[in-house]
Amino acid sequence: MSVIRSTVDTTGAEFAANREAMLAKLAEIEAEHAKAIAGGGQKYVDRHRKRGKLLARERIELLLDEDSPFLELSPLAAWGTDHHVGGSVVTGIGVVEGVECMIVANDPTVKGGASNPSSLKKGLRAAEIAAENRLPTINLVESGGADLPTQKEIFIPGGRTFRNLTNASAQRIPTIALVFGNSTAGGAYLPGMSDYVVMVKERAKVFLGGPPLVKMATGEDSDDESLGGAEMHARTSGLADYLALDEQDAIRLGRGIVKRLNWHKLGPSPKPGYDEPVYDADDLAGIVPSDLKVPFDPREVIARVVDGSDFDEFKPLYGTSLVTGWADLHGYPVGILANAQGVLFSEESQKATQFIQLANQSDTPLIFLHNTTGYMVGKSYEQAGIIKHGSMMINAVSNSRVPHLSVLMGASYGAGHYGMCGRAYGPRFLYAWPSAKSAVMGPQQLAGVLSIVARAAAGNRGQTYDEDGDKAMRAMVEQQIEAESMPMFLSGMLYDDGIIDPRDTRTVLGLSLSVIHNGLIRGADGFGVFRM
Ligand code: COA
Repeated sequence: MSVIRSTVDTTGAEFAANREAMLAKLAEIEAEHAKAIAGGGQKYVDRHRKRGKLLARERIELLLDEDSPFLELSPLAAWGTDHHVGGSVVTGIGVVEGVECMIVANDPTVKGGASNPSSLKKGLRAAEIAAENRLPTINLVESGGADLPTQKEIFIPGGRTFRNLTNASAQRIPTIALVFGNSTAGGAYLPGMSDYVVMVKERAKVFLGGPPLVKMATGEDSDDESLGGAEMHARTSGLADYLALDEQDAIRLGRGIVKRLNWHKLGPSPKPGYDEPVYDADDLAGIVPSDLKVPFDPREVIARVVDGSDFDEFKPLYGTSLVTGWADLHGYPVGILANAQGVLFSEESQKATQFIQLANQSDTPLIFLHNTTGYMVGKSYEQAGIIKHGSMMINAVSNSRVPHLSVLMGASYGAGHYGMCGRAYGPRFLYAWPSAKSAVMGPQQLAGVLSIVARAAAGNRGQTYDEDGDKAMRAMVEQQIEAESMPMFLSGMLYDDGIIDPRDTRTVLGLSLSVIHNGLIRGADGFGVFRM
């Protein structure tokens, strides 16, 4: 056992100040989460209930095994856009009859559940997670289809939604549609492409064109029920496999389908009887300094996340700005890479590369804990080959085949974001703490670079530089970049899978690891050419 010895003074003033700042940020994020939960607002929620219907989240709650957790994904999708926070759809992973499933539930209280560009991105991300982690998908359908005013952004890419469903089926990953209401036009292909379809009597409406459109197109008189009602689809067209009497019955039928899937996880089971960390997870609220320029020891985080706070550090004396080592998390073996002093040098890059290769040799998933300002710049570092060493680490991350999980704890800037398995490097899940910030570089640095470039350009043109204009430009750019680096903004753009409370990190990573183990865990057989 190599139990980490914590040196954080949880009674000190610094800890108290960090904690206060973190709790304030968490309160702000909670307020935004509440907007997603409120859906389309009281008026639409009341109307929905008056129609005798369950809300999206109530449907999910009834579908899941009692008292089991729901790992909600991208709850702040659409934050900062003209659309409702949440993107008119709820996505997440929950346990149904003991099987971890991807759940995608339209929220009909938001614009009739119509899909806007954020809803689409969120749905496609859910499908990607289901495919990579081999999760059955259950769609809880009630949607007005494409959000018509933004159709240009969704119609063409949105076709992938239906392709993903049938591709999952071809991979022997089941897809189930429970249709609670409207599912017209393109939406009709949700049940059309699913392996199993349940429709709620007198509620489900599944047709390519409704009565007005049919009248216009062919002159035929028709009604909703004969064109696309649940009874018709169950008895006549055969699109529905099961006719549900009401919403609760549809959920019961859905659970029954999952029970008969004969589902087995392919990854190894966790070690039984693992220990909880020695240190209290609550301390995680006070570890990250509110000023990200102040470094913190990531071992303090690891000590509050891994089983028994037991961490076998690899190469502890070399490349000390990056901590690497082995641990278990909820009984699953993991390798951890965590930034310590912020900057990545050549030594850290080489150490990371070797460590990632070792994890692939032993089929061990990797966790990346981000707090980096990027790779070191400067003459001596360039001459010593910082680009080729950074490239080596990015090569290893890109071609590694074991599952990766990323947590943005603090800074995640520049190519450091890439080397530490940022969003574009395909981590199975990426979560951000409220203290996280991501951008090509820090706001002051970016504004400063722009100023230097503008000054030089003015000089080349023989013009005198407008110093007042420069000051205003720098202030404006700093403000813009600061706003665009914040976790809510990035979460709104679907650049993470959710902002989490640091104190929940162990639970969220544990759930994610369990999800990942639905598939095989197998390291890479080879990497790209390493530029030595
Ligand atoms: N695009 C944009 N806005 C839409 C929408 C869509 N596809 N569907 C509904 N909305 C809006 C409505 O304009 C309304 O807005 P408002 O309250 O600000 O006036 C709000 O969402 C609620 O719609 P409403 O019709 O009152 O809700 P409902 O629950 O009675 O009916 C539907 C829901 C989905 C059955 C109905 O709105 C509908 O038929 N929509 C169009 C469906 C369609 O043909 N879509 C194209 C598919 S590609």
